[in-house]
Amino acid sequence: MAATDSTQQDNQGLQESRVFAPPPDFVANAAISGMDAYHALCAEAAADYEGFWARLARQNLEWHKPFTSTLNETDAPFYKWFDDGELNVSYNCLDRNLKNGNADKTAIIFEADDGTVTRATYQELYERVCKFANGLKARGIKKGDRVIIYMSMSIEGVAAMQACARIGATHSVVFGGFSAKSLQERIIDAGAVAVITADEQLRGGKHLPLKSIVDEALALGGCESIKNVIVYKRTGGKIAFTEGRDLWLHELVADQGAECEPEWVNAEHPLFILYTSGSTGTPKGVQHASGGYLLWAALTMKWSFDIKPQDVFWCTADIGWVTGHSYIAYGPLAVGATQVVFEGIPTYPNAGRFWANIAKHKVSIFYTAPTAIRSLIKAADVDPSVHPSKYDLSSLRLLGSVGEPINPEAWMWYYKNVGGERCPVVDTFWQTETGGHMITPLPGATPMVPGSCTLPLPGIMTAIVDEAGADVPNGQGGILVVKRPWPSMIRTIWGNPERFKSSYFPDELGGKMYLAGDGAIRNKDTGYFTITGRIDDVLNVSGHRMGTMEIESALVANPMVAEAAVVGKPDDTTGESICAFVVLKQARPTGEEAKKLALELRNWVAKEIGPIAKPKEIRFGDNLPKTRSGKIMRRLLRVLAKGETITQDVSTLENPAILEQLKEAS
Ligand code: PRX
Repeated sequence: MAATDSTQQDNQGLQESRVFAPPPDFVANAAISGMDAYHALCAEAAADYEGFWARLARQNLEWHKPFTSTLNETDAPFYKWFDDGELNVSYNCLDRNLKNGNADKTAIIFEADDGTVTRATYQELYERVCKFANGLKARGIKKGDRVIIYMSMSIEGVAAMQACARIGATHSVVFGGFSAKSLQERIIDAGAVAVITADEQLRGGKHLPLKSIVDEALALGGCESIKNVIVYKRTGGKIAFTEGRDLWLHELVADQGAECEPEWVNAEHPLFILYTSGSTGTPKGVQHASGGYLLWAALTMKWSFDIKPQDVFWCTADIGWVTGHSYIAYGPLAVGATQVVFEGIPTYPNAGRFWANIAKHKVSIFYTAPTAIRSLIKAADVDPSVHPSKYDLSSLRLLGSVGEPINPEAWMWYYKNVGGERCPVVDTFWQTETGGHMITPLPGATPMVPGSCTLPLPGIMTAIVDEAGADVPNGQGGILVVKRPWPSMIRTIWGNPERFKSSYFPDELGGKMYLAGDGAIRNKDTGYFTITGRIDDVLNVSGHRMGTMEIESALVANPMVAEAAVVGKPDDTTGESICAFVVLKQARPTGEEAKKLALELRNWVAKEIGPIAKPKEIRFGDNLPKTRSGKIMRRLLRVLAKGETITQDVSTLENPAILEQLKEAS
């Protein structure tokens, strides 16, 4: 498999001309084998959209009560799928495997931070989940209750999610890097009754607190709905216990039976809420349903990852993000796969850890983020002993990328050095809201082009439109939309249906198209999609999604700060980095004082939101560039952040002189 052309890109950097055909032996054995098979599925969906999805839902899930209604559009855009059917997600992920002869198959290979390995077969995982579920029920947690999971990467984390699904409780996993305040806000918004956490988490040899942050969050107030805090003992670190409220997981499950009758729920029953950032306001609780979500998690495992019974699958995401939901907690189990769950970080004990793990566990499908790839490229440049070529990666047969655009050079490095030029690379474009992959190459069909997520999956009706909702021709950039509802789509924003409508189905686009929030362009000749980045005020830093407004609100909550504006700045490793322009109530600091105050504010943001939201750079000004009507001109700040010269018209600015001052760090 060689490049058919040179490394030329067009002047927009969007027309990559290298094309890589999928390897013939891959095509021969793939679930979707060749482009004809892909086109046939697309044609089936076009001819009978509901029939297509009904067939797949019947073939891929086990229904307790079969559905007769496939898509219910009566209350659009609050679409419902399979809404007279009943099932249980945990039953489909566990019991179904016991029946299918997978009881003794390894479900999870847990690779701890320190390299210790623990395994759980499907039978063992089933028993753990049942005991956990019985324990939750014994504490009065029931169908419809919301449960916050603030956990380390562990078998217990996955079991906690599955146990909630088993009893029909709706979980909301909060990433362990979020602060007490962020956790408190999510607990309140979800109206949760319990928190499942660990004493501490181990990452990169360090003990990081979890339970004490839960205590802090609950002490901030407003969390009276929380009656139980269940603690998994990971490190044995010293923690405080509140009598009557807190209990150890091992004590909770000690006397529980290893069988738990699943709670059969309607296909539309909320499986989980996952908070994510939008362009305005507080994080949104993206609500997913049970049936449609699981269908797509399972089906994309088969289509995009071509999962086979003998594969060892490893998705490096955290269960705190949607990738860890669909491609750790649910998708792999729904298809009976063996997967690696990793507690640690890519750079501990050295930057060869990913490659060492692949060799150790004979991983055949590896799924990670461009940020990780870029940082490991740099690390291997500095220290050749951690270059992938120093490890036996011959078990790999497929690579995946997710979370942000992958630049062609990182793609090439991944393809050559990790995949040995024999593994297809699937660049999967999707979002928290979409539940699973939307646009991605199929590894046994689609010719790959570095930096392009290529074509939508069968049944996914993506298009590019202008601001009035009209289709734009290939070769012309526009707004990415999805024209038809699909089963794993977001159902609503928890507690805020109006915001759901205005964010995703805006009237400007006719109220019927799903607005992804990304810009995109299709190649003139191939129709391949390239994502050009967010079109709203959402940043993507190391694949973590953050709202500029959220960071601005955190900054202005500091008593020193009068005003703040946050923009993204391109970054070689993290994709984007956060640059904050700040006006203090006191005189503008310079030199050492500016450095000291910037550090203080960065730590403040870490406390308000979490370390991932810390601005990389803070520039102080006497003012911010504003129009005469008082609007901050963020587009000028974006130019300044990049260190570029402003060529735009600044005549509408009230205070053009301020631009000079904000050019550089204070
Ligand atoms: O901007 C797109 C980018 O990540 C956003 C979604 O972020 P989140 O909801 O946190 O989900 C991340 C994991 C699915 C998108 O709006 N994004 C995600 N995948 C890609 C991508 N951008 C380009 N290429 C991708 N493969």
